[in-house]
Amino acid sequence: MTNYSITVQPEKQHFNCNESEAILSAALREGIQLPYGCRGGSCGACKVQLLEGDITYGDSEPEALTDKETAGGWILPCQAQPQSDVVIKAKEISQTKDIPIKNLPSRVMHMEQLTHDVMGIWLKLPTTERLQFLAGQYIDVLMNDGKERSFSLANAPHDDEFLQLQVRYYDGGVFSEIVFNEMKEKTLLRIKGPFGNFFLRENSERHSIFIAGGTGFAPIKGIIEHMIAKGDKRKVSLYWGARAKRDLYMDQLAKSWATDHDHIEYIPVLSEPVEEDNWKGKTGFVHEAILEDHKDFSDKDIYASGPPIMVQSIHKSFLEYGMNEERLYSDAFEFAATKK
Ligand code: FES
Repeated sequence: MTNYSITVQPEKQHFNCNESEAILSAALREGIQLPYGCRGGSCGACKVQLLEGDITYGDSEPEALTDKETAGGWILPCQAQPQSDVVIKAKEISQTKDIPIKNLPSRVMHMEQLTHDVMGIWLKLPTTERLQFLAGQYIDVLMNDGKERSFSLANAPHDDEFLQLQVRYYDGGVFSEIVFNEMKEKTLLRIKGPFGNFFLRENSERHSIFIAGGTGFAPIKGIIEHMIAKGDKRKVSLYWGARAKRDLYMDQLAKSWATDHDHIEYIPVLSEPVEEDNWKGKTGFVHEAILEDHKDFSDKDIYASGPPIMVQSIHKSFLEYGMNEERLYSDAFEFAATKK
C-alpha cells in the first residue's frame, strides 16, 4: 500500500495517509483537528481546498459537493483518498468557538463497571453523525425531566467511533441511580455538546502537570491519548488522587503510558488506602503530594480535573509557589451538582 504525504497550509502541518485511507481519518489519527461533521460525505462541514495533488473518492462521488465546488478545487477530506502527495488549505480547530454545538440522539452500545462505583458507558451516534470536539471537553446528557447532566468525554477525537463516559455513583444522584439501577445497553440518550475549556493548549511546550481527582481522570485520559496520538513530547506528570487502590479504576492504563513513553510519569496518590492495598506509594491530599515533588510552578502548565475543593486547594497553594494563574486549566464545574 502506498503512503502519501499530506501537507496542511497555511500551518504547514504534515502527516502520512495511505492510498485507501480518508485524509480526514489520517489527520485525526495524527491528532490534527481538521473540521468535520458527519464523516460520511453528506454534510459538507469538512470541505477544504485542494492546492496540489490528486485524490479519489473510490466508487461514489460524495453528495455534499456541487459540481461547481468540485471544479473550483474543493474536496471532502472525510471521503477523499490521496493518489499522490497532497497539499490542502484548511484551518486547524484549536479553539472551542470553531466547533459547532450539536444536539444528537445516541445509543448506549456498551456498559462496563470499571470499579465498585464507576460505570463506563460507550455511546454511538447515528451513522451519519460524528461529534467534533477537543480532547478534554464535555457533553450534556439531556434527561427526561428536562435537566442536563454533564460528563467529560474520556476518549480522544481520533478515537471517536464511540463517545466514552465515566459515571460515578452518587447516592441519590438522579442520573447515576438510572445508570447503575436501570440503564441497559441499547438505551437511547439525547446529548448536546461539546462544551468546556478544559483542553490541551497545543502551542505550549512547557512541562504539564495533570491532576485528576476520582473520575476527573476521564477528560485527562482523553487529553493524554490525544497527545500520544499526536506525538506531543512535552514532559507530562500525571497525579491521580483517589481514596483507595480500587478507586484508581484505570491504573494499568496510566501505568502503561508511563512505561511506553519516557516523557510521561504517573504518580497515584491515595488518601485512605486500606490494609489490603499494601500501599507503598504517596498518601494524603493530591496537591500536597505534588508539593513534595515540585516547588516552582512558574514554568509549568497545570491541568486539574476533579472536585471543586481539590481545584481550589491547587489554586491557592500553587500560587504561593509561582504558578501563573492563567496557566491553570480546570474543569471543576462539571463535578458540581449537575454531574450527578
Ligand atoms: S461531508 Fe460531513 S464531514 Fe465530510
